Parts: sequence; C-alpha cells; structure tokens
Amino acid sequence: MKLTFVTGNTHKFREAERILKEYNVIIGRKDVNCEEIRSESCEEIALTCLRLLRRKVNKPFFVEDSGLFINALNGFPGTLSSWVFKKIGNGGILELLREKQSRDAYFLSAIAAWDGGREKVLTGKVDGHISLELRGKGFGYDPIFIPAGSDKTFGEDEKVKFLCSHRRNSLRKLAEWIGR
Ligand code: IMP
Repeated sequence: MKLTFVTGNTHKFREAERILKEYNVIIGRKDVNCEEIRSESCEEIALTCLRLLRRKVNKPFFVEDSGLFINALNGFPGTLSSWVFKKIGNGGILELLREKQSRDAYFLSAIAAWDGGREKVLTGKVDGHISLELRGKGFGYDPIFIPAGSDKTFGEDEKVKFLCSHRRNSLRKLAEWIGR
C-alpha cells in the first residue's frame, strides 16, 4: 500500500522513508498545515490532527507528533519541543540542566494513521539521557540526546538512531498494523 506522510518536517520524512522501506511500505510526502491543539499528550495531538486533515486528504495517510521529555524538568519541553527548540535551542536546554542531578530523558513519537477505513494511534519511545555538551549533527535535539546503552548522541551516531529511535519504534508498529 502507498501511504502519505503529512508533515512539513523533511528530516522526519527522510527517516520514515528509510525505515518503512525495510518493511516494504512506500511513502510519499504531503505538506498540509495542521493547527496543533494544546495538549500534554502527543497521542491526542496526532489524533486530533489526523481527524482535522481527513477533510483535506483523500488517501491513506498518517501524521506524527513527537517530543523530548526530560525527567528533571517534569517532562519539559514535551509536546512544546518544536517551539522550545526555536526559542532556546539545545544550548538553552543544557543551561536548564546545569544544576540538575538527573539528566534522564526520553523521546516519544505518536503516529495517527488512517488506512482508508480504520484509524489508529501507535507510539514509540526511546530512553536515554541529555549529554553535557553539544555533540554531532542531526536535527532538533539529536546533538544532546544519548540513547540508553550508547555513549554517543543521536547526532554523532546516525546508525544507532536509525536502529533504536522513538520513530523507528512507532513506524514498526505502523507497518505491522498496515500489514494486518
Ligand atoms: P512536532 O512533532 O512537529 O511537534 O515536533 C517535535 C519536535 O521535537 C521537533 O521539532 C524536534 O525539535 C523534536 N524532535 C522530535 N523528534 C526528534 C528527533 O528524532 N531528533 C531530534 N529532535 C526531535
């Protein structure tokens, strides 16, 4: 089945394209703006967006809402991740964590999908911690996130990100659901 990923984020699209290819799911991209609701739940944001877009997209499609949740900051920036990144960037996050004991954090990805008949929400998570300084490239918070079991940030080790990211986990579930 050909699926459309509705997103304005080309980084997310490229990751999804590569991952889903492994599951023989081919995707196309459509950039339709979706007014995001304010909520602390990625699942709720993604599902609301899917339902709003159903009026505009007449083929099987999915949307994704994701974020970085930092334990010592009570889950901040969470669903505000995109906005916070634009405002204070990785440097600002490192500053907020300067005096904190714990640097534990996780990324969450929530996909809401419509296959032409059914709709479904699928989530993926990756645990890790925030590095002491910026390391590597990647997009968004990639240069400050170290997944559990590694000593490199997502920005330094693209292969590890490809294999274990929150997006990989939600997309795998999407591919399984589509195949049913
Ligand atoms: P949204 O899903 O469009 O609301 O944006 C989520 C934001 O979280 C992105 O703009 C990034 O700042 C951040 N984010 C989500 N996934 C990743 C990732 O895989 N790497 C780095 N940052 C991410």
